[in-house]
Amino acid sequence: MKSDPVSLDVLARVDAQHHLHPFTNHEEMHAAGTHVIVRGEGVYLWDVQGRKLLDGLAGLWCVNVGYSCREIVEAVNAQMKRLPYYCSFFNSTTEPAIALANRLSELAPRGLGHVMFTDSGSEANETALKFIRGYWKLRGQPKRTKIVTRNFAYHGVTLATTSMTGLPACTTPFDLPLPGFVQVPGPNAYAANREHEPGAYGQWCLEETERIVQREGPETIAAIFVEPVQGGGRSDRTASGIFARTAGLGAPAWHPVRGGRSDHRVWPVGELVCERALELGAGFHCRGQGPHERVPAARRHSRAR
Ligand SMILES: Cc1ncc(COP(=O)(O)O)c(C=O)c1O
Repeated sequence: MKSDPVSLDVLARVDAQHHLHPFTNHEEMHAAGTHVIVRGEGVYLWDVQGRKLLDGLAGLWCVNVGYSCREIVEAVNAQMKRLPYYCSFFNSTTEPAIALANRLSELAPRGLGHVMFTDSGSEANETALKFIRGYWKLRGQPKRTKIVTRNFAYHGVTLATTSMTGLPACTTPFDLPLPGFVQVPGPNAYAANREHEPGAYGQWCLEETERIVQREGPETIAAIFVEPVQGGGRSDRTASGIFARTAGLGAPAWHPVRGGRSDHRVWPVGELVCERALELGAGFHCRGQGPHERVPAARRHSRAR
């Protein structure tokens, strides 16, 4: 589809007047013009000027089965006619929510048998944070509130998830992180000019993490969030290899991150929001890697924004 220049002009003007874009310099965008996407099929998108584009970003890491998939269109259409929406608050729910929770539990690693649905990755992480705080309070350790994350991590757009994010462009404008969020080095060997020795750099990151955990006091740390592949850092297969070897959840490499006593062990949370789109192949990348299989994995199952 090709739109005439007048309608493009109008679209750009209306967008500039009324629409705020996340992660965007609006002055630059208004000067260059908004990029309007009008159609998608499989891995391709078409913009308003009729250009066909390969969608390397998979939406925002969430279009994992491609655009306009016939089965999904038909299922959504049928459900919209039958029951477009109902919530799961209190003791209610819906048939599709039950079926999906069941299916995800079948697919998830052993021990991850409960599902809570959220509308975004940010909300999934916020929910995990609340679960973790509530858990430690119930276990009689309410001082365990600090959250450790790695630099180059991206965890979302809310106050807490921006505080977890290790990208200065996200935190500096808002004077974040909030108190109680602690950063450790992420295994981005390329950014540290150590790309020729990623294993050694990953090991250093791990030792530095342990030092910071000891400095903060392991008994004050609620959890450490780890992305198997960092979308904000290096997100290629080499980087995922680094993760698996040196910073795998529950893998032997994490065992030094303890407070000397087993009840001071730091709780690892697998943050898998963009994992599938970054194609690790294994679905839940933390599968088979030990104790973390008993902890929640924050994962976005749907996006309704
Ligand atoms: C690793 C990771 N965590 C969290 C998020 C936040 O997800 P959302 O944009 O759905 O809030 C993203 C988004 O790309 C992400 O890549």
